[in-house]
Amino acid sequence: MRSSVNAIIKILAIFQLGFRFIFDYIVGRRIFLRGEKMLGCGCFSWSRVSDLMQPESEYFSLPDPIPQWPPGSGFATSRITLGELEVCQITKFQYIWGCNLSKDGKQGVSFYKPIGIPDGFFCLGHYCQSNEKPLRGFVLVAREAAKQQDCCTLKSENMPALQNPVDYSLVWSSHDGIDESFDGCGYFWLPQPPEGYKALGFLVTNKSEKPDLEEVKCVRADLTCTCEACGLIADTHSKSSNIPLLIWGTRPLHRGIYGRGVSVGTFYCSSYWNTREEVNIACLQNLDLNLRAMPNMDQIHALVRHYGPTVFFHPDEVYLPSSVSWFFRNGALLYSRSNSVGQAIDAEGSNLPSGGTNDREYWIDLPCDSARENVKHGNLESAKLYLHIKPALGGTFTDIAMWVFCPFNGPGTLKVGMMNIALSKVGQHVGDWEHFTLRISNFTGELWSIYFSQHSGGEWVDAFDLEFIEGNKAVIYSSKNGHASFPHPGTYIQGSSKLGIGVRNDAARSDHIVDSSRQYEIVAAEYLGDGVVKEPGWLQYMREWGPKIIYDSRKELDKIIKVFPPPVKYSMENICNKLPLELYGEEGPSGPKEKNNWIGDERW
Ligand SMILES: *[C@@H]1O[C@H](CO)[C@@H](O)[C@H](O)[C@H]1NC(C)=O
Ligand SMILES: *[C@@H]1O[C@H](CO)[C@@H](O)[C@H](O)[C@H]1NC(C)=O
Repeated sequence: MRSSVNAIIKILAIFQLGFRFIFDYIVGRRIFLRGEKMLGCGCFSWSRVSDLMQPESEYFSLPDPIPQWPPGSGFATSRITLGELEVCQITKFQYIWGCNLSKDGKQGVSFYKPIGIPDGFFCLGHYCQSNEKPLRGFVLVAREAAKQQDCCTLKSENMPALQNPVDYSLVWSSHDGIDESFDGCGYFWLPQPPEGYKALGFLVTNKSEKPDLEEVKCVRADLTCTCEACGLIADTHSKSSNIPLLIWGTRPLHRGIYGRGVSVGTFYCSSYWNTREEVNIACLQNLDLNLRAMPNMDQIHALVRHYGPTVFFHPDEVYLPSSVSWFFRNGALLYSRSNSVGQAIDAEGSNLPSGGTNDREYWIDLPCDSARENVKHGNLESAKLYLHIKPALGGTFTDIAMWVFCPFNGPGTLKVGMMNIALSKVGQHVGDWEHFTLRISNFTGELWSIYFSQHSGGEWVDAFDLEFIEGNKAVIYSSKNGHASFPHPGTYIQGSSKLGIGVRNDAARSDHIVDSSRQYEIVAAEYLGDGVVKEPGWLQYMREWGPKIIYDSRKELDKIIKVFPPPVKYSMENICNKLPLELYGEEGPSGPKEKNNWIGDERW
């Protein structure tokens, strides 16, 4: 078997020389083919495995141990049944091979296999991550679940859920085809599934022999769903003289509350340039519609009390949050196109029009009298986080979306190089809804990451990159005026950070805080069933929380742009055209249920 593998490697090596030629031609470099004899595995970056290469594999753990959660059905029991398969999350790994992508060895990636797999469970693929962060990730391992009466279709009766691959194909190797020794290089294998099955991950070895067919299982196709590559982990094309290898993380294509796709935690790799190619591994699918692993009401309260972050508003913030009831009780008014006289709103918002879609027929506005300024500045004492609890990634994670309401969103500040231009109107609007989201593993109840929503986009931040204020409670910084959320203090430019032009977001600690572990209200958790959470009246209000702005915000920007010399002017125009529409504030903002991440996944 070894000799045929060696033949494949030789062929790959020939291919690689051809590729290298083309690549060098493209970048206009002079080619010194073999000019410099390279050592070991043939390239300066994908070097031979050595003790040096092995990262110190420090596992990340949250500042505090995870508490005992209140009893329930399936939450935090370490195993989840997805229908015919039972899966278990493995977070302990053994190092197999790694490589170095920078001369100082700081950038690199390592590949691992899961260890401590419980009896009867099988590996579905290996794990990979960058060396720049502490070792933290998971892969799922699986076994056939005990048959449940309500889940088995006739079709599956003769076909087991899991089967060995029939063979492996070598996707890539770090061997240069020149060196005599093959050991110590990295080899990437794609399991070849039997007919009707799919591979869920790749295997990596540090020897040229094909892995044993028992090393990994393939899953029956109807228990899987489409997977997509996301988050490039490594791209070697500029560093290596080998055939390039691109490595991505994976996630299910269909996500959100009703998405049934389950992340397996494996990586995807390809040696082609074309990132649009179809991903040839699959994700799992949760066919158990009961979502038994989701937390019950007691468990939700325990999670929020344990993880609820502290939200810091900027020390110079003048547009602070308030509770929705405070906003209503202190003079907010409902207007409609058919009624130009503002109507008072009761504390629960029960007289707001309910349901439907945003037809721009209704909007809320600040009071017109002396109360106006008061309402605009919010009321920190009454402020709280409004919580939407929902399943993520097929019910293997719980998302706790935390919404905060500010009666008013202040105008933006444009930053051009060293200059700050405070805008008088652009960006400001009445009725600002912002959120961040905790993603908690259903296997253990561990906080996995937090999503920080920033205007029309946002980012997931892994737990090890969070600031913690007390125990496992993280810190959220809400930016001045705009209330976008950030994991660390500082000044963030939305626009082109390269050109130094964009809208400025300032985040810092202050005494203006809302502690979400105490100041919260659960407003929705659809999966618990109808009526378990009583949704407040205002949540059903699908129209605008602020009036349509009548001034021409573009005019204000254009006036500023005009002053600059042509090259800067040009980039500024470009950036202003790309700024999120809501920053111009021409339409009033919508409430939480109108946002597409209410049902869908966050934007990432
Ligand atoms: C090669 O991989 C095996 C696991 O498959 C691992 O035990 C071994 O330590 C690796 N060798 C090196 C030199 O890292
Ligand atoms: C990474 O590669 C550089 C250059 O080959 C080498 O000097 C360095 O020691 C390597 N780092 C590690 C951690 O292997």
